[in-house]
Amino acid sequence: MAALIGVLPGDGIGPEVIDQALRVLDAIARRSGRHFELRQGLIGGAAIDATGKAFPEDTRRLALEADAVLLGAVGGPKWSDPAARERPEQGLLDLRAAMGVYANVRPVRTHPSLYDASPLRPERIRDVDILVIRELTGGIYFGAKQRDADRASDLCSYSRAEIERVLRVAGVMARGRRGRVTSVDKANVLETSRLWRSVANELFAREFPELQLEHMLVDAAAMHLLSRPREFDVLVTENMFGDILTDEASMLAGSMGMLPSASLDEKGRGLYEPIHGSAPDIAGRGIANPCGTILSAAMLLRHSLGLEAEAARIENAVHEVLESGLRTRDIAAASSREATTVQMGDAVVARLNA
Ligand code: IPM
Ligand code: MG
Repeated sequence: MAALIGVLPGDGIGPEVIDQALRVLDAIARRSGRHFELRQGLIGGAAIDATGKAFPEDTRRLALEADAVLLGAVGGPKWSDPAARERPEQGLLDLRAAMGVYANVRPVRTHPSLYDASPLRPERIRDVDILVIRELTGGIYFGAKQRDADRASDLCSYSRAEIERVLRVAGVMARGRRGRVTSVDKANVLETSRLWRSVANELFAREFPELQLEHMLVDAAAMHLLSRPREFDVLVTENMFGDILTDEASMLAGSMGMLPSASLDEKGRGLYEPIHGSAPDIAGRGIANPCGTILSAAMLLRHSLGLEAEAARIENAVHEVLESGLRTRDIAAASSREATTVQMGDAVVARLNA
């Protein structure tokens, strides 16, 4: 039976980058004789415009039925009125919660062909290979919100079970890597972090005694990501810290546009999206970097469909294209040839077909 992939392009540059990822999946399907059934759905601002809801019922049904979901980005100035009842971002949060994808996996790797795209010195970022695991369905993103004229609050709450299951993903993934886990928290201030830390100590002593677990405060982690990024292996943290640290870490790789992500549930069903947003400032201009989304499609093949070889072929193709000097504007260098979103997609597809 063909795997069913839900496709949610969303807003801004979302549809542009998704188009290129779909061309790549099509090229893979042709070459490997596999068949993917793609079914499109609405999310975010596009869904608000069409249905009044940021996460319509049809999209919920598609997301729950699909083997995996590929998403572009949501949001934009059109829907950012603070008084609005429906917000595009809430649609994305509702989707993550509905799918139960609590472990957001964000690989941050630097590549020699992109050293010059990073604002950091090449000797700092050489051979960086960090796997960030961000808790995705709890914490301050999902706690009770309150607001009156002069006061507002957002509750940050975590249960032992929520903490344990995401830490376990970090442990399992660290086993196949360098065996070092950095758990990032703010235990000098936050009660949730103190629970996080003690759950981490218990879990790693019990289930992962062979791994090296260290704790790091989030402010220090923000600094060390820039001063000694090579020393991180697996970094696991709560929802909001992970959101902030991965935007920061993307600059090691050269651009937000480069980073893919996989958000996984207990059974490996997943939601795949680039870590960047809808970039309204460049939407519709054909210059967005499709690499993060194409690499997210590769993660989809690997984690949800078990197609490791096909995933690796896509990743190799992207790196070969970057090495050939073709770059979108966000990662352009003096020596590179500037490519549009579609030209980048053309080049990756051509490598896959070669
Ligand atoms: C991300 C984004 C989202 C988040 C926004 C769009 C709600 O920044 O995926 O990192 O904060 O999770
Ligand atoms: Mg973010």
